[in-house]
Amino acid sequence: MYGFKKKVYFAVAALLLAAPLLYTGCASSGDTAQTPVDKAEHSKTAAVQEEKAGATESSSAKKAGPEVAQAAIVKKKKKRKRRQRKSRYGENYFPNIELTNQDGKKLRFYDDLIKDKVVSINFIFTSCQNVCPLETARLREVYKLLEDRIGKDLFMYSITVDPARDTPEVLKGYMKKFDIGPGWQFLTGKKEDIDALRVKLGLYIKDLDEVLPDGQIDHNISLVMGNQKTGQWMKRSPYEDAKLLATMFGDWLTNWSNKNSAVGNADFRKSTGLAVNYSDGEFLYRTRCMTCHSLGRGDGIGPDLLGILQRRDREWLARWIMEPNVMIKEKDPIIMEMMKKYNDIAMPNLRLNKVDITNLFRFLESVESGYDDSAVK
Ligand code: HEC
Repeated sequence: MYGFKKKVYFAVAALLLAAPLLYTGCASSGDTAQTPVDKAEHSKTAAVQEEKAGATESSSAKKAGPEVAQAAIVKKKKKRKRRQRKSRYGENYFPNIELTNQDGKKLRFYDDLIKDKVVSINFIFTSCQNVCPLETARLREVYKLLEDRIGKDLFMYSITVDPARDTPEVLKGYMKKFDIGPGWQFLTGKKEDIDALRVKLGLYIKDLDEVLPDGQIDHNISLVMGNQKTGQWMKRSPYEDAKLLATMFGDWLTNWSNKNSAVGNADFRKSTGLAVNYSDGEFLYRTRCMTCHSLGRGDGIGPDLLGILQRRDREWLARWIMEPNVMIKEKDPIIMEMMKKYNDIAMPNLRLNKVDITNLFRFLESVESGYDDSAVK
């Protein structure tokens, strides 16, 4: 099962990384290629031609009498309208619901948050014991990569699916825990409005019984990134590599308009992340753990894991990685002590099984003096 997923993951990752290269390749070779300047010139010429056509039409129409003149005007108006045609994912598609951000500021979803903007949107809840903290941690990596653009030409929104508990103050506290700076907004609102929005964004799983007995909310953990103006929208997974997500968000969706892209100019040939055939354990570590942990580079959101197998009892470790939420509930003394140090961020339950743990341990054993994750971070 994992092997298959892994292959699919890499196939998708390889395709996604290759796409911009193919794109650049096309743009720089061949006579028919259009640079953005060519395109601008082209549309300018086209517009001039259209204007000219319109002018001839109306002057000849004037000669031909008022009815023909009227028809010419209607035709011209239609043409102008066609040129201004917008993405169908506009104000008639998205609900303009009222949301409140972490500072208590009221904002309209369409008018204030997405209209004419390039955005990333995901849904979380702050008491989540499963994947949401990983998703927040992954998006935090994306945020750090694009920090100077967030809130300027790129906008990030995390919306709660649990507005009853997640008040603006709670959201603010959550941001603080994860050390998230300005520009990325956390929002709450009316439950029914938020659910309707999730349906429109394709992030609502129909027929899923979302409310679990222990107060957890089972919800779609994908995120969407899009450019409202052009109507390009894509659904991504929080298990993806942060640099890849940052490239899609900061470069693809803005049509490579940022020439100083931190990640867009990376040389594919120098990437070590793709050609490597990871073991199952290393793959798990990279996709599930590395956003919060490192091996030999010091603490991140969670503690450095280098030498962890020597420091802790294996059975304790296996249980902790498989069901951290249960051990937190039991108030395991080692964990209680540790949580204080890590801003009370609860290590997520990532639903791993015993085979995953064996694979992870095998990988952790193989790392003796530090793990080079520079290809990604
Ligand atoms: C969202 C961030 C996050 C993710 C993802 C995450 N952890 Fe953690 N982890 C933590 C935090 C925070 C702690 C410290 C305890 C706490 O606050 O819950 C921790 C603690 C640990 C510890 C205990 C370390 C010690 O010194 O005893 C181990 C082991 C560990 N994590 C392994 C993993 C593994 C393996 C994965 C991937 C399968 C993983 N973690 C994924 C945040 C995370």
